[in-house]
Amino acid sequence: MRIDKFISCTGTASRREAAALAKKGGVTVNGETVRDLSRHIDPETDRVVYGGETIVYRKYTYVMLNKPEGYVSATDDRSAPFVMELLPPEFSKAGMFPCGRLDKDTVGLMIITNDGPLAHMLLHPKRHVSKTYRFSCESALIPEAERKFEAGIDLGDFVSAGARLVCGENRMGGEVTISEGKYHQIKRMFTALGNRITYLERISFGGVDLDPGLARGEWRLCTDDEIATLKANFEAK
Ligand code: URA
Repeated sequence: MRIDKFISCTGTASRREAAALAKKGGVTVNGETVRDLSRHIDPETDRVVYGGETIVYRKYTYVMLNKPEGYVSATDDRSAPFVMELLPPEFSKAGMFPCGRLDKDTVGLMIITNDGPLAHMLLHPKRHVSKTYRFSCESALIPEAERKFEAGIDLGDFVSAGARLVCGENRMGGEVTISEGKYHQIKRMFTALGNRITYLERISFGGVDLDPGLARGEWRLCTDDEIATLKANFEAK
């Protein structure tokens, strides 16, 4: 693999940033300063140091994205830009894709990875991986809303599994946790109660919380703890 590809695929820096640092002598391979990043390395055995830090090779890459409004997360939806456009192109080339979907107008936490087995597990309906959303709605929720969410709501083609609803004081906002991921699920649950979602933000997925330091549209690599938390959803079941 080319050195600049390795550096960008691991999320360390863009190819352009890497080229600039290499020119200044900031990139070494097995102790040797390398200025031409088109050279090839074996990522599993060669030691690449970037700006003084060894790049740890991982088979898979995991990214946390704070999705902004107006981006789609489904490849077959051409109505707006695809969320992968917010990330370096090397990530798409490395086979990374969004783990699950958010509507175009939903914002917040998305995990992007090329770990297919983990993504498959996190999205499998039988795994009941929990997702928490912050919401606002058009009118005050009815007093029985918490109980109805807990009991399951008949949405015509299916009855939702028990969900946890925590309302704020005016009952026009709060947090909702579901363990399913059907199309427009939360919006449909609110519609079934005669209400309408006006704002939806995913703040937690599979035990991993959206980093409050990430602005909308920003991304960062997941930490080792976050990756372990995602994997724990699998190991526990
Ligand atoms: N439920 C919805 O209705 N929309 C989303 O984007 C996610 C969950």
